Amino acid sequence: MSRLILETADLRKQYGDLTAVNQVNFSIQRGQVFSLLGPNGAGKSTTISMLSCLLSPSDGDATIDGHSIVNAPNKVKAVIGYVPQDLALYNKLNAKHNLKFWGTMSGMGGATLNKRIDELLERVELADRANDRVETFSGGMKRRLNIAVGLLHRPKLVFMDEPTVGIDPQSRRRILDMVKELRDEGMSVLYTTHYMEEAQELSDEVGIIDHGKMIAQGTQDELRRLVGEQDTLRLHFTEDAPTADLATSFTQLPFVSTANANEQEVVVTVPDAASVLPDLLAIATEAGQRVRSIDIEEPNLEAVFLHLTGRALRE
Ligand SMILES: Nc1ncnc2c1ncn2[C@@H]1O[C@H](COP(=O)(O)OP(=O)(O)O)[C@@H](O)[C@H]1O
Ligand SMILES: [Mg+2]
Repeated sequence: MSRLILETADLRKQYGDLTAVNQVNFSIQRGQVFSLLGPNGAGKSTTISMLSCLLSPSDGDATIDGHSIVNAPNKVKAVIGYVPQDLALYNKLNAKHNLKFWGTMSGMGGATLNKRIDELLERVELADRANDRVETFSGGMKRRLNIAVGLLHRPKLVFMDEPTVGIDPQSRRRILDMVKELRDEGMSVLYTTHYMEEAQELSDEVGIIDHGKMIAQGTQDELRRLVGEQDTLRLHFTEDAPTADLATSFTQLPFVSTANANEQEVVVTVPDAASVLPDLLAIATEAGQRVRSIDIEEPNLEAVFLHLTGRALRE
């Protein structure tokens, strides 16, 4: 048995002139969480849809637990759980009946299914709402139920596509903790997100995807090493501050590696924050701008993304 649960080979998806996924190669080790981190439109959902055998690749292939997504989709479907970004729930049915429906669809039944449903309702903290219709649920509750659906048949590898977007903090926390629990129980997880913090918290390995291309992958340590020993400085300015001009001025300092403007913020990467800070403040003051606050961060995935693309991950 290979130590890899998933391995892609030049996976590609073309929509007319747009290459949504461009010869993507990555692999996931059994029992690990792999995060696909990238901004909106990077190609995360398209990648997951192909790996879930819901969308045919234009080119390339992937092997999941030894089976090709192109040649053996049914074998692949048996070992994966797919939690889509869009909910697949029946609003008029209660939580339990939704799970029963999907369980029956995947060939489960009887006492095994009932036991599994109870177990999963506990796990996603919806046991007390088991008999309530889904239409009465909050977004976060629906998302948790959707995850339970994806886990019903005890998949070896579960795909979660941005499961925390637009939900309450408690649901988000439960989902993140659950990903770690599942990993500790031996499941492998492919998790997509555009939140650097989530990738940082969860991942054994991270793939950074941008414009359909995998631009870097590895453990978090490996990725941080790409940036070198760089600190990230975030200088927050008042509204209407000319952040683009400030960034340009900062770039001219000898020890500044990169300086990028966001709204009311300039993000600077430098080898040593403390030694450059006085010069940055002097430039800001000279330009008549007041620095409202400063954050100093050691290298993180955001810095890696910035380093590789010249853009901030958070738009
Ligand atoms: N069915 C489709 N037809 C045409 N273009 C699509 C289709 N689905 C996705 N795309 C495009 O492919 C790119 C990647 O989309 P997607 O995989 O959804 O990105 P992400 O999930 O990272 O936000 C985007 O530019 C998107 O507009
Ligand atoms: Mg998406």
